[in-house]
Amino acid sequence: GQLPDLVIVGAGLFGLTIAERCAEELGLRVLILERRHHLGGNAYSERDPETNVEVHKYGAHLFHTSNERVWEYVNRFTSFTDYKHRVFGKYQGQVYSLPLNLALINQFFGRSHTPDEARALIAEQASEVATEDASNLEEKAISLIGRPLYEAFIKGYTAKQWQTDPTELSADIITRLPVRYTFQNGWFSDTYEGLPVDGYTAWLTRMSDHPNIEVRLETDFFAVADDYRGKVPIVYTGPVDEYFGNSEGRLSWRTVDLEESVVDTDDFQGTGVVNYNDQDVPWTRIIEFKHFHPEREKTHLPGKSVIVHEYSRFAEEGDEPYYPVNTADDRAKLLKYRELADAEPMVLFGGRLGTYKYLDMHMAIGSALSMYDNKLKPHFAEGVELK
Ligand code: FDA
Repeated sequence: GQLPDLVIVGAGLFGLTIAERCAEELGLRVLILERRHHLGGNAYSERDPETNVEVHKYGAHLFHTSNERVWEYVNRFTSFTDYKHRVFGKYQGQVYSLPLNLALINQFFGRSHTPDEARALIAEQASEVATEDASNLEEKAISLIGRPLYEAFIKGYTAKQWQTDPTELSADIITRLPVRYTFQNGWFSDTYEGLPVDGYTAWLTRMSDHPNIEVRLETDFFAVADDYRGKVPIVYTGPVDEYFGNSEGRLSWRTVDLEESVVDTDDFQGTGVVNYNDQDVPWTRIIEFKHFHPEREKTHLPGKSVIVHEYSRFAEEGDEPYYPVNTADDRAKLLKYRELADAEPMVLFGGRLGTYKYLDMHMAIGSALSMYDNKLKPHFAEGVELK
């Protein structure tokens, strides 16, 4: 058949943003190839058929941004609830309010502190190690927040996330461990925050709802690459190493196992996210999805709730890549892949997999808008060479 003007590999937020801009503003005919059975990438969600609770299928997704342009852009496709994300952490039979804040400090040390008293206490405890001298993650964390808070709130959780003792982890995994000397416990500190009123999938489907956009699901780019490579411009948002047949070696990722279950209670934990800081509890956190949408309470089946236990581990072949491990070895490989990518004619690499970067949703959208402004629009509207 006729070739499209642009092929996009991956129907995640990066690919959808590029598709929408090119179809809507430039009138291009865009073909999106997506190997999963649904669009939306990792932001995809489904209503659980039994309880009618919206479940984020690839881990909890909370939207937040301080980028005015991204906020204006996403509001073309959905409105947002006024949900404000908060996280709690369990440790030795108590539940604390995270991130590290005055409420947590008071509860943990068993008495009230003024902000100045708390600051002095933590500074005193952190003086055990000088930050410049820290040779591993444990020492770095102690140098920032002191040993007691480190041992309760960082050590076990980090060890579970990385399946590695924090004394074996690099000090540069953490640069800061902010402590709030207030009772403010909002998880994000962005200007805008909320959840899509009628769900992620409705939002993401609206982005692709344009007569010039075709989304072809369950289609792996590599099975049809010869039809398009070298013939039409391609925006590739799959894993960069896979594109080059892993010629420089595989980039390493962490994955998360998500164990979903329906429990026979109206309310399992009273909030959306509880972290488990004890090292002998195998999961890192439990998500209870109904709490993300208190405004939908009447639509949820009473007496039941959907929860997900999360377990973190290193990704193996076939696992979903979630968080770049980013060792020195990975960074060296990435440099070689970037050179290959720059030399690849008519292909632009983007998104979290195409650039091997953890990107929040607003960052994926923002970076797609930049690629559109700086590369695709100049190419299609003014004939500038695609590079
Ligand atoms: P994404 O991975 O979404 O899409 C890429 C698509 O390409 C996938 O659908 C994939 O199937 C497809 N693909 C790959 N190779 C292909 C091939 N060869 N052929 C065809 N298709 C191919 N962000 C945030 O703002 N708030 C949050 O709370 C969270 N929470 C969160 C939790 C977890 C566990 C993770 C891993 C991530 C988050 N995020 C997040 C980040 C968010 O998921 C991320 O910003 C977006 O997924 C990025 O969109 P992309 O389009 O770049 O990738």
